[in-house]
Amino acid sequence: LYTQQGFDRNNSMGANLADDQELQALAARLNEHAGPWRAGPLVPGAVATGELLAVRNPADRRQVVGHWQPADAAAVDRALGNAVAAQPAWDRTPAASRAAILEHAATLLEQRMPEFMALCVREAGKTLPDSVAEVREAVDFLRYYAAQARRQFGAPEQLPGPTGESNALQLHGRGVFVCISPWNFPLAIFLGQVSAALAAGNSVVAKPAEQTSLIGHAAVKLLHEAGVPAEVLQFVPGDGATVGAALTRDARVAGVAFTGSTETARAINRALAAREDAAIAVLIAETGGQNALIADSSALPEQLVKDAIASAFTSAGQRCSAARVLFVQEDIADKVTTMLAGAMAELKVGDPGALATDVGPVIDADALELLKAHAQRMDREATHIATVPTGEATAHGSFFAPRAYALASLSQLQREVFGPVLHLIRWKADQLDAVIEQVNATGYGLTLGIHSRIDETVERIASRIKVGNVYVNRNQIGAVVGVQPFGGQGLSGTGPKAGGPHYLPRFATEKTVTVNT
Ligand code: SER
Repeated sequence: LYTQQGFDRNNSMGANLADDQELQALAARLNEHAGPWRAGPLVPGAVATGELLAVRNPADRRQVVGHWQPADAAAVDRALGNAVAAQPAWDRTPAASRAAILEHAATLLEQRMPEFMALCVREAGKTLPDSVAEVREAVDFLRYYAAQARRQFGAPEQLPGPTGESNALQLHGRGVFVCISPWNFPLAIFLGQVSAALAAGNSVVAKPAEQTSLIGHAAVKLLHEAGVPAEVLQFVPGDGATVGAALTRDARVAGVAFTGSTETARAINRALAAREDAAIAVLIAETGGQNALIADSSALPEQLVKDAIASAFTSAGQRCSAARVLFVQEDIADKVTTMLAGAMAELKVGDPGALATDVGPVIDADALELLKAHAQRMDREATHIATVPTGEATAHGSFFAPRAYALASLSQLQREVFGPVLHLIRWKADQLDAVIEQVNATGYGLTLGIHSRIDETVERIASRIKVGNVYVNRNQIGAVVGVQPFGGQGLSGTGPKAGGPHYLPRFATEKTVTVNT
């Protein structure tokens, strides 16, 4: 099946997390990469002038792991000029050659897994299993889009010539693509966007989330080493209000790939639309969610609780796919609530680099403040179920203890809460359709979990729910590239799905050549 889909090898194996020895050896190798790291603009011809800013370890704010330098206005301008000039030659480079460069980058990344894992732990606060998954997903994106580029951007597609003409359809890069990526998948989503845009024949100006500039910088260096020309892929770290805004209001930009909040996606859309005398740009946005897990009374409570915990608290709940609301049918609700509290008491919150840790820190002090404010509101307005105990080890980091609350209604949650908080809502046997309607009424549509042993119920929910990814009787996170194409609808994004066969063509423009033979 992989070969039929144009994916010429299986997904990266990453590391075997079930093998304690392998994980311990990997953890030991992380210490060989302790920084300090340094990041700054990668723009040929620009002189860096920005102030050096400290990067602090989210797990221990006293520890500076590196420094980064934001791109100034001149560097952004220069980057766009370089990108315009470099794109035609890159687009004329055969798709197979572009693909070979991305595949080389995938091999380099696999070889340097400990270094990139160390960056994920120290700059983004990712746990060891999350860091393995992060590198692995990035490798998969590189190989998958390379394979898709060979298939979709190689030889022109020959179409019928009923009137004696020959017709061929060819995909080309659109021009300059701006890639704006999030801190929660600082390597995987960063490289996913960038490699797709490159594979399709675009030049790329990449802006990482300001919280994870070190990882973005290392990823761009790796692609340069693999053979992407320096003007074809440039790096402009900075915040959204300055660097992001300068990029998205520029008439030279043909498209933007963005992952982050719905609010920011709207602002980018407005900025692109407001450009006078510019071609209409494409926006590929992957945004937030208000993801539900619906369990009926036929669900197996043990499995439900295990999957709910994985879906809500893995990566400290900082996944756009994470479960935020568990709708549990009344008959099993008491049992599930008791088991959930019991299972949460077993979770270990702490040093993301330690093997025993389940939940690491949240990304920064701002994220922590938002979560604390939400917890205070929930303490007043909802019924507290459980809070995971945290120890002394968390005193100097931005740690937020995972917690669960029982709510009376979904209307108590106005917006996405981006962290490890699970909300339970009970429903009665005759309320299934009302539950589905409530979830659809949020306007978000990213992931949905279903726990049920009744085929008709699964079918009823799956066919009516408006989301991009439905997971039945398992957890609802960790979509695999080429296997579970990922992305939502409505307020959750524009599509196309990352890691799916329709992703690359959205980065392309199409040309039909008709020859009178
Ligand atoms: N692709 C990630 C996941 O499936 C998104 O946040 O969890």
